Amino acid sequence: MNASVALSRDADIPASSENRIGDFPLAVSVRGLQRRYGARVVIDALDLDIQKGEFVALLGESGCGKTTLLRALAGLDGPDAGQIRAPERPSVVFQEHRLLPWATLWENVALGHEATVGRAGAAHALAEVGLSGREDDWPRNLSGGQAQRVALARALVRDPALLLLDEPFAALDALTRIKMHRLVKELVARHQPGVLIVTHDIGVARLLAHRLMVMQGGEVVEAGLTDQVLDDPQHPYTQTLVSSVLPV
Ligand SMILES: Nc1ncnc2c1ncn2[C@@H]1O[C@H](COP(=O)(O)OP(=O)(O)OP(=O)(O)O)[C@@H](O)[C@H]1O
Ligand SMILES: [Mg+2]
Repeated sequence: MNASVALSRDADIPASSENRIGDFPLAVSVRGLQRRYGARVVIDALDLDIQKGEFVALLGESGCGKTTLLRALAGLDGPDAGQIRAPERPSVVFQEHRLLPWATLWENVALGHEATVGRAGAAHALAEVGLSGREDDWPRNLSGGQAQRVALARALVRDPALLLLDEPFAALDALTRIKMHRLVKELVARHQPGVLIVTHDIGVARLLAHRLMVMQGGEVVEAGLTDQVLDDPQHPYTQTLVSSVLPV
C-alpha cells in the first residue's frame, strides 16, 4: 500500500481523536485523493469537505470520474493516494434501486440493521417516503419511482452522517423525477446528513444544492455556492454546461 494513503472510517479512529467524524461538523473530508484503474489515473489531487447538513452537487461529463469518487467516499474502493475521513458506513443510492427481490419492503429497508431498526423503524421510514402500509409488499410490485423511494428509505433509516446519491432518479420520467427531488430536499432537511449528489441536471443542482462542484477529466475545475457558479461561471467547461441548457 502506498505510504501516503490513509483511509479513516469512524470505527478506525480512537474516540479521543479530534478527527473522529462523529464529533466533527464535517460529514466527509478528502485531501489529495487519487484513484487509478491500472496505470490510468481517473481522479487526481482531489480535495473535498462536506459539512453535516450541507448539500453538494457534482456535475461533470460522462466518464469524468463522478461514480469513481462516490465509490471511494462510500468505502467501496480504497484511495490509491490521499486521505478520506468518512463515517464507517455512508448511505448510498445508485441509479438502480438494488432491492433484494426475495425480501419484503420492510426487510429491504432494515437490511443489515434489523436489531436497531426493526419492523417499526422500517415502517416509519417507508411512511416518510410516502409508502405507508406497504411493509409486507414485494419489490416486484413497485413502479420505478416507488422502488427508488424504498432505496431512499433504506438509505435514511439509520440517520447517516453522509448520504451519497449517484444519479438516483435519472431513469425516471420527468414528473416523477421532480417529485423525487422535492422529497429528497424535504428528507435531507429533516435528517441533516451531509449529501453529495451526482447529477447531469443543472435545475436539480439549483433546487437542492448549497454548493456545486464541476468536474472535468477527474479534476474539480470549479466549485462554489451553487447560484454563484451557475450565474457567473468562470471555467470554460462550466460556461459550456450552463449555456447548453435550453430555456423552458
Ligand atoms: N472498474 C473499472 N475498470 C476500469 N476503468 C474504469 C472502471 N470503472 C470506471 N472506469 C473508467 O474510469 C473513468 C471514470 O468512470 P466513472 O464511472 O467514474 O465516470 P462517471 O463520471 O460516473 O460517468 P457517467 O456520468 O457516465 O456515469 C471512465 O473513463 C471509466 O471508463
Ligand atoms: Mg457514473
